[in-house]
Amino acid sequence: MSKRYTITAALPYTNGPIHIGHLAGVYVPADIFARYKRLTGNDVAFICGSDEHGVPITIKAKKEGVTPQDIVDKYHAIIKKSFIDFGITFDNYSRTSAKIHHDTAQEFFKTLNDKGEFIEEVTEQLYDEEANQFLADRFVTGTCPKCGNEEAYGDQCESCGSSLNATDLINPKSAITGNVPTLKETKHWFLPLDKHEAFLREWILKGHKKDWKPNVYGQVKSWLDDGLRPRAVTRDLDWGIPVPAPGGEGKVLYVWFDAPIGYISATKEWAEREGKDWEPYWKDEDTKLVHFIGKDNIVFHCIIFPSMLKAEGSYILPDNVPANEFLNLEGNKLSTSKNWAVWLPDYLEDFPNQQDVLRYALTANAPESKDNDFTWKDFQARNNNELVAIFGNFINRVVVLTNKYYEGVVPEAGEFSDIDNDTLAAIKAYPAVIESSIERYRFREASQELMNLARLGNKYLADEEPWKLIKTDEVRTKTIMFVALQIASALATLSEPFLPFTSTKLKGILNVDDNSWSDISTKNILLSADHKIGKGELLFSKIEDKTIEMQLEKLETSKKENEAANKEIEPQKDTITFDDFTMLDLRVGTILEAEKMPKTKKLLILKVDTGIDTRTIVSGIAESFTPEEVVGKQVTVLVNLAPRALRGVESEGMILMTETPNGKLVFVNPDTAVKNGSQIS
Ligand code: 2FM
Ligand code: ZN
Repeated sequence: MSKRYTITAALPYTNGPIHIGHLAGVYVPADIFARYKRLTGNDVAFICGSDEHGVPITIKAKKEGVTPQDIVDKYHAIIKKSFIDFGITFDNYSRTSAKIHHDTAQEFFKTLNDKGEFIEEVTEQLYDEEANQFLADRFVTGTCPKCGNEEAYGDQCESCGSSLNATDLINPKSAITGNVPTLKETKHWFLPLDKHEAFLREWILKGHKKDWKPNVYGQVKSWLDDGLRPRAVTRDLDWGIPVPAPGGEGKVLYVWFDAPIGYISATKEWAEREGKDWEPYWKDEDTKLVHFIGKDNIVFHCIIFPSMLKAEGSYILPDNVPANEFLNLEGNKLSTSKNWAVWLPDYLEDFPNQQDVLRYALTANAPESKDNDFTWKDFQARNNNELVAIFGNFINRVVVLTNKYYEGVVPEAGEFSDIDNDTLAAIKAYPAVIESSIERYRFREASQELMNLARLGNKYLADEEPWKLIKTDEVRTKTIMFVALQIASALATLSEPFLPFTSTKLKGILNVDDNSWSDISTKNILLSADHKIGKGELLFSKIEDKTIEMQLEKLETSKKENEAANKEIEPQKDTITFDDFTMLDLRVGTILEAEKMPKTKKLLILKVDTGIDTRTIVSGIAESFTPEEVVGKQVTVLVNLAPRALRGVESEGMILMTETPNGKLVFVNPDTAVKNGSQIS
């Protein structure tokens, strides 16, 4: 039966591009679900947008010397493009800096305020005297009172997932100046979550929410068992949506108050554009509201947002919140700040037109019930052993043989054998099998069922061997190819939610796009005799070891850069006198010749014009420079260093070097050419 679905995907923060963790945790499963719901005839609003408020955006803007608006404009465009590139079919991708969102969020706040759903209270909040600013959320770090993590933020501990108030932190420290904050009085609006506890218990624990994923249900239960407290929904910040109430001057809505309302404003924006009414998507009890999120967002979607919706009074509540766990990368936590990630724009540059490979690898290995690891080896294996060897191979054989034997025309089937009948019946069963997995939010399982259909096709061809029979039994060969073509056609339709680009390509090859999802289980014939298919085209290609090695090297470089960036600065050495310093004879010289020291990795033998003479210096810079790169360079030379033999070559001095963040050596030289022999003092 057709239903109305409002499907939301967590609004990404707009302070960086998105990476494979975002795709695996939220956007690919949400897109599979939305595509599947549309294919099965439902009325779907698939909603997302950029989350453009919050402290990290202002911190980044400050660091880069630009405005927060500059930051969100830049990343909104990058993120939006990534979603389009990866075939994520949002009906609307909006942004929280849009006027419609500011209006909607303020109206929502006013309604709750007018209904007396907030507590207004003057409390002491953390304050940075030097920065002249209250510290909330990411502006303050400290020790988590629940788990002892020393890097917890003022709103959340990423280690144990607890949602915190800044004043809960032990040993708080300002992220702006590093100072220990003081306490200062300020007024805020609080949502009394404790008041909603009974309703939440009834709705989630006693209601029908036992079918929620165990990780979601378990987290919510433990929060409720811990007891809820009032939560501030306003902040003393200047980036965000102004608080629309007397006394709200200079204050903004808490980002987690406005962001989920972004789902509503994005729906309104879409409905306006499409000439639809937005309200049934949020207010009709028959609508199913489903939030796709990562596990760090569970409290906001299962406790805070439902309390806001309930307090407002006219909204429906989520039917399900299928939160995923986290994806790790090659054994380590994905991290934006450590650049330990595979960014979507980078992936597309290295693997052009291979979006489906990533979608598939991430789905087949999705962190659905526990954290999971993405490895490039697994990615390669999913591609080579499944997409190429099973799916692609089957389609290729069917298309090539149909073109070879019948000039691309689907042959007339003769009498079906038992195996043919079983195979045709198995095709019909697949939609229900895949559906059952998707309806339970088990997308890994669903993707494997799809692959099983391709496996069935491969096995059928391998068992029936039309390439042998063509010589002896033309009628039987035609029947086999007819059945195989039915499997190919079913794959074209059923793969759409998972492999949308492949599905389109395959429909093009088979010259068919008129089968619906339900046709696969109801129609006896999906591709009729006499239908002409197109020419073959490879759906997937093998990924070689060297391609994977390059990706691993890229990560290794990130790791090195990160280690170098975090390298402790060496403490200052013991004091020396001016006379000690004058003992060093530092001159500017020019490298005249350079060659590699045989049988070493690190050493170059240099001939250097020091202005005093031309001398040989052996320098350990061969991993950072080729000999050709250094010839002609002006460098700083310690000329009175006692000569010493290195690998049998006498070295008469030392070239001064330092290191870039990624470990490459660089010369310390004058910024303008000077005469060789000039002294450095
Ligand atoms: O964790 C995040 O990336 C948040 N920006 C998610 C917001 S979801 C919603 F409520 F808007
Ligand atoms: Zn903690």
